[in-house]
Amino acid sequence: MSMTRRMLLSSTAPLLMGVPAPGDLLTPPEQAAGRRKKLRVGIVGCGRMGQFFAEVYRFSPDTELAAIAEYNDERRKVVGGRFAVKALFKEAPEMVRSEKLDIVAIITPTKFMKAAVLAAAEAGVRGISTDKPIAAKLADADAMVDACNRRKLVFAGGNLQRARWQTQIAAQRLRSGVYGKIIGATVMGYGGEISGGGCQHVAVLRLLTGAEITQVETYGYPAKTLAADASDQGLMINGRWRLSSGIDCMVFGEREPFSGVEVRAERATVRWSWYAPLLFEGSGKTAPRKEVDPAYPPFPWASMLDRPPLRKDDDYLVSSIRSFIDAVHLGRPSSSLFVSGHDLRQSLEAAIASKASAMEGGRPIALPLADRSLTLMPSPYRWLGGDAVGSPQAVKDASGETR
Ligand SMILES: NC(=O)c1ccc[n+]([C@@H]2O[C@H](COP(=O)([O-])OP(=O)(O)OC[C@H]3O[C@@H](n4cnc5c(N)ncnc54)[C@H](O)[C@@H]3O)[C@@H](O)[C@H]2O)c1
Repeated sequence: MSMTRRMLLSSTAPLLMGVPAPGDLLTPPEQAAGRRKKLRVGIVGCGRMGQFFAEVYRFSPDTELAAIAEYNDERRKVVGGRFAVKALFKEAPEMVRSEKLDIVAIITPTKFMKAAVLAAAEAGVRGISTDKPIAAKLADADAMVDACNRRKLVFAGGNLQRARWQTQIAAQRLRSGVYGKIIGATVMGYGGEISGGGCQHVAVLRLLTGAEITQVETYGYPAKTLAADASDQGLMINGRWRLSSGIDCMVFGEREPFSGVEVRAERATVRWSWYAPLLFEGSGKTAPRKEVDPAYPPFPWASMLDRPPLRKDDDYLVSSIRSFIDAVHLGRPSSSLFVSGHDLRQSLEAAIASKASAMEGGRPIALPLADRSLTLMPSPYRWLGGDAVGSPQAVKDASGETR
């Protein structure tokens, strides 16, 4: 936040009184560097997004990027050279059989995630991560979460906004009760791609409120996106989600006046809108709300963002992976993660339920959904990847030359 803007905002003192310290949310770099054993990491799917994951693992002092499974022959060779990784494989099963890995990070297109997760879980690794959307069919997401739970291994969720350091701090404060009871929530901009990009809204709403969605009553448009086999592209959802805490969350597909999640407590309102959440004094019920400086503590891993090709806006990728590495190193459960596979599953379930309710003109539908065979297809790019849909990543981009 610029100084000018900070100065314009009023004093935060009353709202910051009694807020919890970030504590051991993330192990800081100096301490991570002192870990005696480095975790061996294998990447599955080293395309556009996978290469960013690979950068974070190679810059992390307590991990070693040990193997890559990449389907595309030319790209496999190029990324192997770029990351100085010699153990190169076409697919996950060969990689996890041949290499002794602690962590497997899966960033393939969605269609291929389940097979890779099950192969890695079977091989006995300690931690697995995937990315959004985790699946098209709910039963497939269940199979992944269950396989990891059964083996008590850490199952992480990848590059999601809810991992942003300031969003985690905002949630910690809201849920500690320092702002009073949570009394309301609104989701804006739940449209366009509800199982792809829309994952973000559900994941942040659950984080900020500490509650699950227990019932949806929603309407959707345009009509063609409400066909059973239509993908989520262009689908707009409006309506209401009931939360396990008893509050009703209003849901709007429109992105105006903002796209994000707002949670109102008795004394303060937190609004996440893709960047660091804003903080307002008051809930707007008794007096006009006033924006105040949230004074977030500094992100302990900010220095990693100075290493190209990582960018300032990759802070939530870094924090997501750092929380995952900590969980594996320290033996923490998946529920400690900034983003878990369970979170991705809950986002998919809310998207599927919202579409199902909309298809029936707003019929209330209870969650967890009874019918786990329900499906919502993401965009062809997310489902099959760039090579399959005619937008492959250029070799010079994969090599890192153009960064
Ligand atoms: N969270 C985010 O911000 C974010 C952003 C972009 C993409 N994504 C997700 O990441 C995934 C990948 O997207 P991308 O942009 O990197 O796509 P991409 O097409 O650039 O890369 C995918 C890579 O996976 C490889 N691959 C495909 N099947 C494989 C298999 N079975 N085994 C090994 N490798 C395989 C492909 O050859 C390709 O190199 C998608 O699910 C997408 O939705 C998430």
